[in-house]
Amino acid sequence: MNDFAERLLDWFAGSKRDLPWRRLQHDPYAVWVSEIMLQQTTVAAVIPFYNKWMARFPTVQSLAEAPLDDVLKHWAGLGYYARARNLHKGAGVVVSEHGGRVPSDPKQLLALPGIGRYTAGAILSIAFNQAAPILDANVIRVLSRVHAVPGDPKTSAATQAVLWKLAEAALPTGRAGDFNEAMMELGALVCEAGAPRCGTCPVADLCAAKQLGDPTSYPQFTGVKKWLDVEDVSVAIRNPAREVLLIQRSPELALWGGLWELPRATRQDGESLECCAARAVRESTGLSVTGMAPFGVVKHVVANRRILLHGFEAAAENDQEAEAAPSVRRAWITPETRGDYALATPQVKLSDLLFQQETQGRLEL
Ligand code: ADE
Repeated sequence: MNDFAERLLDWFAGSKRDLPWRRLQHDPYAVWVSEIMLQQTTVAAVIPFYNKWMARFPTVQSLAEAPLDDVLKHWAGLGYYARARNLHKGAGVVVSEHGGRVPSDPKQLLALPGIGRYTAGAILSIAFNQAAPILDANVIRVLSRVHAVPGDPKTSAATQAVLWKLAEAALPTGRAGDFNEAMMELGALVCEAGAPRCGTCPVADLCAAKQLGDPTSYPQFTGVKKWLDVEDVSVAIRNPAREVLLIQRSPELALWGGLWELPRATRQDGESLECCAARAVRESTGLSVTGMAPFGVVKHVVANRRILLHGFEAAAENDQEAEAAPSVRRAWITPETRGDYALATPQVKLSDLLFQQETQGRLEL
């Protein structure tokens, strides 16, 4: 075994965190779920979602049989909902085409929706102990520093190719899963982005970036994050029973597909908030409303999107719900039933604000 792998594995054996998915590494479905959840999401944020998910969908069969609504409800708050839709779809394929067993063949794995080279490598190495490399943000950081790899791994295909080769070349025979996890763990706990702890690093004296003087100069990211500012308006429409209307977005939509929301529109250039609120009601419900008034605003940042979501309330003029926009799935909710629906985080924040004000208002009466 190479010196790097040996030291890393020794360190990992003594330092690894006790994470829930590490207790189910023989189960490729559990590895699949955890690796998908861990994309773009921190370990701390994933743990409660993973535990609830595995309690509700303990097997690939149980996931395949579940309605999409239920699946999205268990994902609500994790973001990047295409991940949940793909997992659900992928479970269906595993049941219908692979007899309910997650395949150990790289080609078959890569053919499943949402599984790319990283996830396939993680499942193959961790669950099946095959010699498959992985490259995620942590591994990129570790390898870029250890080998002082030039170029920006976000934008340069040549740099990515070099990193994949290094990840493959480093794999120790028969220990690929542990090794891959050890590299991720080192990136998470020691070789951190802003402040690497080289004093406690088991491979510090093999690290080219450290020898060059400044490990943080690798990876050589060049780009500045480009923010996309989005301003949305959602309307809480109440019926005479004071229930609030939610509508469901089409499951085919890339953004928040299949999730529920207070009728919403994105503000256009020069459009007033009031006009945007009226448009949200018109376009997504067809209802007539009265008494439109603002009740608050929430902020949410996800990926490169900085979202400002304004809330308005209004009353449905009469009981018109049957005729209006019949193709849209809708539900009238109360604070008690909101948890039955999958809402994206900005919508959770806004409805929290709405219901909070309502409770406070009532107490003041
Ligand atoms: N990040 C992605 N996959 C991981 C894993 N298996 N363990 C810890 N962090 C991870």
